[in-house]
Amino acid sequence: MKRIGVLTSGGDAPGMNAAIRAVVRKAIFHDIEVVGIKYGYEGLMEGNMELLTIGSVGDIIHRGGTMLFSARSEEFKTDEGQQKAIEQMKKHQIEGLVVIGGDGSFRGAQKLTEKGFPCIGVPGTIDNDIAGTDFTIGFDTALNTVIEAIDRVRDTATSHERTYILEVMGRDAGDLALWAGLAGGAETIIIPEKEEDFDDIIERLKRGRDRGKKHSIIVLAEGVGSGFDFAERITETSGLETRVTVLGYIQRGGSPTAQDRVLASRLGARAVELLIEGHGGRMVGIENNQLVDYDIHEVLEKQHEIDLGMYDLSKELSI
Ligand code: F6P
Repeated sequence: MKRIGVLTSGGDAPGMNAAIRAVVRKAIFHDIEVVGIKYGYEGLMEGNMELLTIGSVGDIIHRGGTMLFSARSEEFKTDEGQQKAIEQMKKHQIEGLVVIGGDGSFRGAQKLTEKGFPCIGVPGTIDNDIAGTDFTIGFDTALNTVIEAIDRVRDTATSHERTYILEVMGRDAGDLALWAGLAGGAETIIIPEKEEDFDDIIERLKRGRDRGKKHSIIVLAEGVGSGFDFAERITETSGLETRVTVLGYIQRGGSPTAQDRVLASRLGARAVELLIEGHGGRMVGIENNQLVDYDIHEVLEKQHEIDLGMYDLSKELSI
């Protein structure tokens, strides 16, 4: 193998740059050239790419976002789009591709592999919603951003004796809400994987007030619905004063944590190894702190499992 490509696709995540750096340097270490493809599959179809050197990926390990930019592409979902991409790769003598992104990006990687072009997926998304890995790149940084926000909101919640609802990202997954809620000491965590018991939530809020609690923090995953709708229901039912904070895109930015940089470096380098070993259509992941890899098809078929034991624990700790 003489030349490979790397791209980032879908929603960006802190640590993607560290993964790009690892791919580039690991490949160069093995005398393989790396082409950086800009704007994900969109750029691949257009041939928007450039050769990356050791220096091109200097000074990026600590930066959020992605130096290769990202995009979500509708055209690439079509056969013609995938064919265009393959032609570009042939034209630029690219023999294998590392795709850093989430499940949508992996579907593209699987299609290219089925069409004879080996791709390896590296899980990068703040949602932590991919099967076959305990953690995705960006999750830890986003989690720390949410926790910092909870701590700040808690201060003002106490001063005003209000109930605060923090709506966090995660798409259809509740990992970010669950981990942040547990780490931030939230009274209530609402996630798509667990049906909420609204009466119980109100009961808990009231019980807390009765025993002199000055504030209540509710962390709600966006996959469940709008924080504003939820706040309205609480006020209507209980009369409690509520305020809502939708954290939004601040969760996707910022300098990656040490955890994310290390994860990205390990996964990016392993992806290159797999290509060198002649594999395609696989995703690298981490389980019990060991590097693993799975057939992308298998990863996409399976549902990422949230740790509901943590959910039960959060309830026990917020009585
Ligand atoms: O997948 C990452 C994510 O940030 C989700 O948490 C969120 O639902 C979605 O992307 C937002 O997507 P977009 O950037 O396309 O608005």
